[in-house]
Amino acid sequence: MDKGLGLRWIKMAAVYLTVGVALGIHMGKSHDFVLAPVHAHINLLGWATMALMGVLHHLFAAQLANKLAQVQFWLHQVATPVMLIALAAMLMGNAAVEPVVGIASLVVGVSVLLFLYNVLRNLRAAAG
Ligand code: HEM
Ligand code: HEM
Repeated sequence: MDKGLGLRWIKMAAVYLTVGVALGIHMGKSHDFVLAPVHAHINLLGWATMALMGVLHHLFAAQLANKLAQVQFWLHQVATPVMLIALAAMLMGNAAVEPVVGIASLVVGVSVLLFLYNVLRNLRAAAG
């Protein structure tokens, strides 16, 4: 299947690290911490989670690279920026976008469940 999936996760992780650190520096400079939860989740849901996904998909490419993993990658890549941009808008006072934050969070949750399924099903099979 797609051996490049791990590398794609890692490339996206590096983009999130750059944006997350830039926002952190901006918050420190401006003393405006309104977007701190956005900063935290750009770095944790973006950089940390995506880098781990990339390392795991690279390490276990033979077991994890399948159609499900492709679907999971795209769900995560589409939902994460929607969630974080909507969260930023919400924290800046736009209460109307709250459902968008909620729905995008649920889609990220679905992505995590697909990852769980892939790991439990295929890593267990590989070990056995
Ligand atoms: C140069 C890099 C970074 C700078 C300048 C920076 C700056 C900040 C600032 C100013 C805050 C707000 C503190 C406050 O509310 O009192 C913060 C919070 C936080 N940062 Fe960073 N940060 C950086 C990198 C990172 C990285 C790489 C991660 C994670 C991998 C991270 C995770 C967090 C978390 C979890 C919080 C707590 C957010 C909250 O209190 O709601 N930061 N950071
Ligand atoms: C769809 C996924 C996620 C959702 C919906 C979510 C939601 C939340 C919410 C509602 C809070 C409380 C924010 C506040 O009190 O201001 C929070 C805090 C936090 N989350 Fe998440 N989270 C998600 C994923 C993650 C992941 C993957 C990590 C770590 C890898 C993480 C790490 C944290 C941390 C460290 C805090 C505390 C930050 C602080 O000090 O305010 N979250 N999250």
